[in-house]
Amino acid sequence: MKGTTPLGARDEREAALWVRDMFGRVAHRYDLANHLLSFNIDRYWRTHTVKRVRHILERPEARVLDICCGTGDLALALAHAHQGSVLGSDFCHPMLVAARQKAEARQARTALFEADASDLPLGDGSVDLLTVAFGFRNLANYADGLAEMRRVLAVGGIAAILEFSQPPNAAFAALYNFYSRRILPLIGGVLSGSRDAYTYLPESVRKFPGAAELADEMRRAGFAQVSYEYLTGGIVALHLGVAA
Ligand SMILES: C[S@@+](CC[C@H](N)C(=O)[O-])C[C@H]1O[C@@H](n2cnc3c(N)ncnc32)[C@H](O)[C@@H]1O
Repeated sequence: MKGTTPLGARDEREAALWVRDMFGRVAHRYDLANHLLSFNIDRYWRTHTVKRVRHILERPEARVLDICCGTGDLALALAHAHQGSVLGSDFCHPMLVAARQKAEARQARTALFEADASDLPLGDGSVDLLTVAFGFRNLANYADGLAEMRRVLAVGGIAAILEFSQPPNAAFAALYNFYSRRILPLIGGVLSGSRDAYTYLPESVRKFPGAAELADEMRRAGFAQVSYEYLTGGIVALHLGVAA
């Protein structure tokens, strides 16, 4: 359960640098590739996440943070459902630039800042809801990432982790693996101009812990009432936990 291990990265520092550079290279085409490669289902995954945390968003005073916000799709969806401002952070500058452009165009109440998810410039217990969509898998150390999430959440605050998973049905998993390992790198490579980014994607999903293991790790990090649900046959899992 250590963290992501991109090919060639010798330690956690190199893994994080590799991830940041890679997202920097694909940032200009990230949204297009995302929507096309997922047949637009990624929009539903984020909408569903917002629905599951709506009870917190409905509290105007709730402090909301979306880490690894990338081009901002989840942060913007959260802001749409919340009266207050939504914080969004990412360590990849080009992704944040894209997020900022979108937020300005939509006049969304967001405050975006550059930060490593494992070292957030926020005080202990300073947020009530922390979300992360498709970013957690890329962290160089999952236990450190969870510890930092727990640190910035107030007791009773909610963490929501939306991440790729492994479909439990073997036949569906085989079909999905064929798509993600054979087709996705080809199309993603052409769309983004970066084949290695879309070779890394299925590899990182394959190495990522299953949903039950991630739930256990959340409990170890100090989250209670941990639950998860599979979406789209288990291509994705949404984990929820309450900071204890
Ligand atoms: C697959 S994108 C997801 C973006 C967005 N959340 C979404 O739903 O489309 C992953 C994002 O996580 C960011 N990321 C990965 N590791 C990070 C870290 N250690 N600290 C901050 N951001 C990180 C990357 O820069 C990238 O923007």
